[in-house]
Amino acid sequence: MSIPSEAELIHRFKGILFTTRSSPELLKSLDTFDAREDDVLLVSYPKSGTHWLAGVITKLYTTQITLTSPIEFGDISKLEELNKLSSKRIIPTHLDYNMLPRNFKNKNCKMIYISRNPKDTAVSMYHYYRDNPNLPTVDTWTAFFDLFLKGDVVCGSWFDHFLSWEEHINDKNILFLFYEDMKKASDLPKIVKDISLFLGLKVSDTDIQDICKKSSFSEMKMNTEKENSDPSHTVCALTSNRKLIFRKGAVGDWKNHFTPKQNRRFEEMFNEKMKLSKM
Ligand code: A3P
Repeated sequence: MSIPSEAELIHRFKGILFTTRSSPELLKSLDTFDAREDDVLLVSYPKSGTHWLAGVITKLYTTQITLTSPIEFGDISKLEELNKLSSKRIIPTHLDYNMLPRNFKNKNCKMIYISRNPKDTAVSMYHYYRDNPNLPTVDTWTAFFDLFLKGDVVCGSWFDHFLSWEEHINDKNILFLFYEDMKKASDLPKIVKDISLFLGLKVSDTDIQDICKKSSFSEMKMNTEKENSDPSHTVCALTSNRKLIFRKGAVGDWKNHFTPKQNRRFEEMFNEKMKLSKM
């Protein structure tokens, strides 16, 4: 089988790289999407813990919900498909705030944004590029590092993505979470409780403990290995293969990849780009 060319795998829309699994027609039509007031958006830059958060959220509901594939994933028929769902929709997305369909904003839909140390995000994405046949090949970490700093990777610049959402940190309908906080075992139950309160759900402390246990990296990885992946059911616009997701699940893996020079370059860029950020 021949290796697909870069043009067959990715394309640029409004300056941001997307995989060809997000069709230009769909991206162009996003603003016509008819959001519902009870939609919940699960927002992230790729590799920030989206599947983990989705695992937690779906376990919190006792009523019927549908965890859809990302709104930007698919072709023009996608919006119609979402329209047809009668149950409450939990909709993942990697879109930056500016590209988010305006109806979600007008209707004050609840949105949960999960963020992760961009150095670990870069490393996680590097491995994803290497393992995921839907993404172009990258030969070395050095080459990928440069692409990541330039924002020449799928979903664009981490900095621009984070900043576009951080502007809305005080919006009452948006909850901000950090991967690193969720990783602290002692903090996870409190975070899960905060998520349940934000979503207006009543969940007992015993259930919260149970959800935390079932959402651990090892449990999720093990369950995924047992499952047969369903190509139409994906939380990430970049793959339907959950087996590519659960790699290491650690904080600080960047230290095993960054050279001291790369770390200095990253810090310089971070300080420059994030000078107005509260991060
Ligand atoms: P690593 O590649 O560093 O291991 P996303 O779901 O946004 O694609 O993010 C994937 C990253 O989240 C991967 O990071 C994956 O291992 C990590 N992850 C997924 N589930 C997790 C869990 N239950 N606990 C901790 N990390 C998890």
